[in-house]
Amino acid sequence: FSATTPYTTLPSVLLIGPPGAGKTALLTLFERGPLYNPDNRKEPDDQENPDNEEPPLDKPTVADPVAKTHTSQVPSTVELAVATDPNPSTTYRTDLDATGATAKKFLLVDTPGHPKLRRHALSHLQGSSSPTITPSALSPSSSETHKSKLKALVFVVDAAALGADSDDTGGLAATAEYLYDVLITLQKRFHRRSGSRAPASVPVLVAANKLDLFTALPAALVKSNLEAELGRIRKTRSKGLLDSGEGGGDGDAGAEEGEGWLGGYGTEKFSFKEMMEFDIEVEVIGGNVLGEGPGADKWWKWIGERV
Ligand code: GTP
Ligand code: MG
Repeated sequence: FSATTPYTTLPSVLLIGPPGAGKTALLTLFERGPLYNPDNRKEPDDQENPDNEEPPLDKPTVADPVAKTHTSQVPSTVELAVATDPNPSTTYRTDLDATGATAKKFLLVDTPGHPKLRRHALSHLQGSSSPTITPSALSPSSSETHKSKLKALVFVVDAAALGADSDDTGGLAATAEYLYDVLITLQKRFHRRSGSRAPASVPVLVAANKLDLFTALPAALVKSNLEAELGRIRKTRSKGLLDSGEGGGDGDAGAEEGEGWLGGYGTEKFSFKEMMEFDIEVEVIGGNVLGEGPGADKWWKWIGERV
């Protein structure tokens, strides 16, 4: 091998969640952050006016904060950076080069939400010790040998589609099903730890998106609705386990008590706090990618603290 620049693998954060929740929109918001310049929008009247020529821009800019998205079919990855000095004023919009702040780079990995394409996203979480992402699986051009360490999960949900008693409860049920699969996968990883060393924990942020919409539920209700629905799914699935004789004991390798049961064994109601038993932190924070609202700053801060 020739002496080339050593390749250091960046840590990664996975964007996961049901279709249409806003994962890809959020990725483009973060990616465009420092490049966003609303003044860059060309005024049709101004063209051909030599007196009004704009000074040449030294950096490429974009006039829209978020890209138009369509249903994702393949995962995609972008490289981002957060300031490492504890400067609370830096956001995803901060141009870290210009401020001279020390920065930490990481990969943000977008995944398709369609049920038939989820297997890929979930497969990242099944590693026995520390979950890794092979960039080659994400972009076929990169070398296969470099694996990125997964640091955090952002589960994006559409807060306007999670009403418990609205007509389209499909949103809540479908979202909770996927979240259940994600959490039980992480929990099983914890069970499969070898020796005394616990696997590196992967914290989960439930990003309650689209709070700009008046139909959106506040984050606290998103949380309680999801907890209630996860409890219902847990009950149904544990019944399925008993009926099929699975987990019923003898000779069934790895069927220790409570495995396959999400959260604290035997609890009546499910709450995210139960996941701490397995070293899995779950936090629900509201925000929005488009429109007026709390924005995405709190999500960015949460990610920055975990990469
Ligand atoms: P899949 O790729 O199918 O898994 O979906 P996704 O999660 O990537 O959703 P995407 O980012 O494509 O967003 C779906 C739609 O929701 C798009 O039309 C977005 O413009 C819209 N959207 C995303 N975020 C927000 C938001 O904060 N508020 C509103 N009102 N719309 C949003
Ligand atoms: Mg998408």
